[in-house]
Amino acid sequence: MRPGLACVAVEMLSSATCRARPRLGRLFLAPVTQTVTLPKSQRFRSTSSMQGFSELARERSKSVTSFYNQSGIDVSAEKASVRLTLATLLYSGKSPEGHHILSSAKYLHKELPVRIAHRIKGFRSLPFIIGCNPTILQVHELYIRAYHMLSDFPQINDQDVEARFCKLVQQLLDDHKDVVTMLAQGFKECRRHIQDETIIRNFLDTTLCSRLGIRMLATHHLALHEENPDFVGIICRRLSPKKIIEKWVDFARRLCEHQYGNSPRVRINGHVAARFPFIPLPLDYILPELLKNAMRATMESHLDTPYNVPDVVVTIANNDIDFVIRISDRGGGIPHNIVDKVMDYHFSTAEESAQDPRMSNLFNNITNSGNQSSPMHGIHLKNKATNRKQSKMVS
Ligand SMILES: Nc1ncnc2c1ncn2[C@@H]1O[C@H](COP(=O)(O)OP(=O)(O)OP(=O)(O)O)[C@@H](O)[C@H]1O
Ligand SMILES: [Mg+2]
Repeated sequence: MRPGLACVAVEMLSSATCRARPRLGRLFLAPVTQTVTLPKSQRFRSTSSMQGFSELARERSKSVTSFYNQSGIDVSAEKASVRLTLATLLYSGKSPEGHHILSSAKYLHKELPVRIAHRIKGFRSLPFIIGCNPTILQVHELYIRAYHMLSDFPQINDQDVEARFCKLVQQLLDDHKDVVTMLAQGFKECRRHIQDETIIRNFLDTTLCSRLGIRMLATHHLALHEENPDFVGIICRRLSPKKIIEKWVDFARRLCEHQYGNSPRVRINGHVAARFPFIPLPLDYILPELLKNAMRATMESHLDTPYNVPDVVVTIANNDIDFVIRISDRGGGIPHNIVDKVMDYHFSTAEESAQDPRMSNLFNNITNSGNQSSPMHGIHLKNKATNRKQSKMVS
């Protein structure tokens, strides 16, 4: 097992101490159009009748006032989370009777409420005016609801109960899938009240990394039920960095060609034959973002010669302790005047590049999309939230 980049994934699993900064980037600038999942109790309640309305009002006020009366959450929030390394997850054993699944479920049953209670504590620590934002409050309530559903769940001692637990975990994963969009929406709505950006940045760093860790643990447990010789849960036994890089190179090149009419070729060199156990998920978040950045910079710094652009080079370096993926481009580098800002959640130069007249010509000719911002900047929300630039990748 290699630490190194592996530590990125382990850090995600171990939630709280993670310092890397996932980003919401342009979400703060662009209108968010994703539909928002409401807690079921609110979604299906009709407000057309007086009775329905008062029920809804009672339920809302109940959940809001109950923020002050949550001793269970207080106790759990004081507990430390129990972190697992990739090695523990990988070598926890596989028994034909499914004992490994039962012990994984027991761990999750104990661990999830603690991690969720930590998140609830984070919401409580937000400045009052921000914590009152309806969208942020909704996410806060989602976490409270998840906490109670998990801590009310009975002890898991047999396969039937474990199967019900899996259903609950899957339901919670679904219920929380829009949390990143909702947080982006909420912070966008209350941006004018934000005096100290660092409070929000720290909150988002911790919340989003911890959310990823929670989702990885949950998905890992569900995946333990699947029979796939190459995988133990979500851990690939023999991950090939080259293959995963190639997958995302294809993806980024297609986007780039669609956007600019051409894309740089990508050469992969170094330890191309390396294979080791690893969780592909973090790479699936990081690689497309860095490759898009490299291709975009290359194309935008060669707008006069779009059919003759320098290659992007990806180097894999691997030893017993670390592995590093370096992505090098000749797109001119990050201008000094924005270096300090590029890590901010709301920073993006997407709008600026769309304003370059040469770009808008390309946009119009190729995509017929006018000055709309492009998919080369922050393609999917989950990537925005986990675009961990302080990872061991060098762009
Ligand atoms: N390889 C690169 N070459 C030159 N500049 C880069 C490179 N990577 C990033 N940048 C600069 O850093 C800025 C921030 O990058 P980042 O990926 O965070 O935002 P973005 O690409 O503008 O939008 P999004 O957040 O949606 O991806 C970019 O706008 C660009 O100016
Ligand atoms: Mg980008």
